[in-house]
Amino acid sequence: MRAVIFDLDGVICFTDKLHYKAWKAVADELGIYFDEKINDRLRGVSRMDSLEIILENADRTFSEEEKKEIAEKKNNIYVSLLDTMSEKDLGNDVRGALDVLRQKGKLLAIGSSSKNTKKILEKIGLNGFFDAVSDGTNITRSKPDPEVFLKAAEMLEVDPSDAIVVEDAMSGIDAALAGGFKCVGIGEAATHPNVTYPLKDLSDLPKLV
Ligand code: BG6
Ligand code: MG
Repeated sequence: MRAVIFDLDGVICFTDKLHYKAWKAVADELGIYFDEKINDRLRGVSRMDSLEIILENADRTFSEEEKKEIAEKKNNIYVSLLDTMSEKDLGNDVRGALDVLRQKGKLLAIGSSSKNTKKILEKIGLNGFFDAVSDGTNITRSKPDPEVFLKAAEMLEVDPSDAIVVEDAMSGIDAALAGGFKCVGIGEAATHPNVTYPLKDLSDLPKLV
C-alpha cells in the first residue's frame, strides 16, 4: 500500500458534538425536533444533505433560499465553535499513527466532505502535514459517491488499488469500496459488513499498510 487517505471528522478529530450543537441551535430556533440519534445520521453527509435530513421533521417546506440561509447560520455557529479546538484535540493514537506512517514513507491524504477542512487542520496543528487534501470544496457529489477519495488518489498520483481509506461513517466505507479502495473502519464503520479491516482506534493502522 503506497498511500493512506483519511476521513477527517470522526477519524483525525472529533467534531460530532460541535456539529450537533450548531444544528441543534438552528433546529430549536425553527421549532424542528432534532436529537443525537438524528445527528448520527449526518456523519459523512454534506452540509446541504444534512439539512435535508433535519428538515424531514419540519411541518412545512422551505424554499432553496431559506435552506441556504439556515445552512449558513448553522455554519457560522459551527465555525465559531471550531475556535475552541486546539492541538490537544488530536488523539495520541492519531498522532502516533501519522508519525509512523510518515517514517514508513507512505503518502498521506485527507478525503473529507467538510468545507471547513483547512480551518480544522490549522486548529489541530496539521496544516501542511498532508501530501494532498481533497475536501468539500473540490467535490460535487457527497459520500457514498467515491469522488472525494478518487480526487485524493489523483492528487497523490496513486491508483485506488494502491491506497487505503480510513473512515468512521458507513457512507464513507461505501464510498471507498465504490472507488476500488481497501478500507479501515473505526467506530460505527467497523461494523460495516464489507469493511476490509475493522479497528478500535488508529494504533494498529501502521501494521496494516
Ligand atoms: C463531514 C461530517 O466530515 O463533513 C458531516 O461528518 C458534515 O457531519 C460534513 O455535515 C460537511 O461539513 P461542513 O464543515 O462542510 O459543514
Ligand atoms: Mg467522518
